[in-house]
Amino acid sequence: MSASQELERAATAYALDAVKMDKQGNKGRAITLYQKAIESLLQLVQLYPEYGLNKVYVQRAIAYQERIKALQGSVSPQDVRNEMEREAEHEGGVEKATPEGKDEGSELIITEKPMVKWDEVVGLDTAKKAVKEAIVYPVQRPDLFPLGWPRGILLFGPPGCGKTLLAAAVATEIDANFYSIDAASIMSKWLGEAEQNVSKLFISARKSSNEGKPAIVFVDELDSLMGTHSNEVGGEIRVKNQFLKEMDGIMDKGKALHVYVIGATNKPWDLDWAFIRRFQKRILVPLPDHGTRLNMLKHYVGNLQITEDVDLHELARLSEGFSGSDIRDVCQSAQLSLIGEFFDSGKALDKEAKPRALTMVDFRAIFDSRKPSVSVDMLSLYNRWFEAFKAL
Ligand SMILES: Nc1ncnc2c1ncn2[C@@H]1O[C@H](COP(=O)(O)OP(=O)(O)O)[C@@H](O)[C@H]1O
Ligand SMILES: [Mg+2]
Repeated sequence: MSASQELERAATAYALDAVKMDKQGNKGRAITLYQKAIESLLQLVQLYPEYGLNKVYVQRAIAYQERIKALQGSVSPQDVRNEMEREAEHEGGVEKATPEGKDEGSELIITEKPMVKWDEVVGLDTAKKAVKEAIVYPVQRPDLFPLGWPRGILLFGPPGCGKTLLAAAVATEIDANFYSIDAASIMSKWLGEAEQNVSKLFISARKSSNEGKPAIVFVDELDSLMGTHSNEVGGEIRVKNQFLKEMDGIMDKGKALHVYVIGATNKPWDLDWAFIRRFQKRILVPLPDHGTRLNMLKHYVGNLQITEDVDLHELARLSEGFSGSDIRDVCQSAQLSLIGEFFDSGKALDKEAKPRALTMVDFRAIFDSRKPSVSVDMLSLYNRWFEAFKAL
């Protein structure tokens, strides 16, 4: 598993445990765990500081931070929100989520767009096509869809292959309001009133659509909302039912409604049928094939200096079974160790000096110490699930 994937997983695990402690009234432990979740998310962001997708993770960290504040001060989440709004106004520099700035659920809107562009998502042609047909075209020309269009889209597949990236790219493409939520932030932010707030979130999304701006509700790690498994965080059944109700609501409503729910999961088999059937499009986001890995390598070494002996085809072959996230990590690791060497040699102190270019040997050294993060057994599970439930 790549470093970023590991951090993301750790953050989720801490957050879910935090919510559990929170429910049991164990404030101290909950705060510590929320804090750890935040730390993991911020480390993740620091791995690639310039990355547009980071905004999704920062948003998540803010949700946990708000819960910590509420726990520390034993004040209601609404107080914390009001406080944050006052601060934002005071500083004058922070844009409000909505003109009124106090819409329930509005704090979940990512006002600063993830700004992930379509061509930053390498490969995934089938998934991109399906997403365009389901969301992008209906938004651009609703008049061409007399029979309506799907509102629920499920992206599933092995970790690190671009599900979150794809969802962010769609939001950028159609200039939508992007509501990014995960199970832990729903439960923690709104502890005790989670289901009312799911409903408020959808009210806000509809309002956005009515005012001419499509809304995308992105639920990452949809499987953790299921609640029938070991990671149950409590109260999920009601939240889940509210969610299902809201999804029915957006499906039936007038054609002009541009509210979409994109769910992402690495564990589609944890979803129950009530959920699965509401996602009319179910799209596999697979591990990259040889050609896609080659393009990913080109994409990620594009910003690096490499010597002519670097054979990207050979690297694509060596990275069989690797996810997009793994490949990005390989390129970053090669660069990091090169820069480490440069500093160790003392040459970096001369501001004019440049490090040498990366060679094939550098890349081979990284591959020698790595295994693909998704096993063959896992892959066959995805394919079996896809065969059973596919809906492209
Ligand atoms: N298809 C892809 N094209 C380009 N980069 C990718 C791709 N898939 C994964 N990555 C890289 O790995 C990171 C993690 O991918 P992510 O979208 O979070 O995967 P998932 O949501 O499927 O677990 C991305 O931010 C990106 O840097
Ligand atoms: Mg993801």
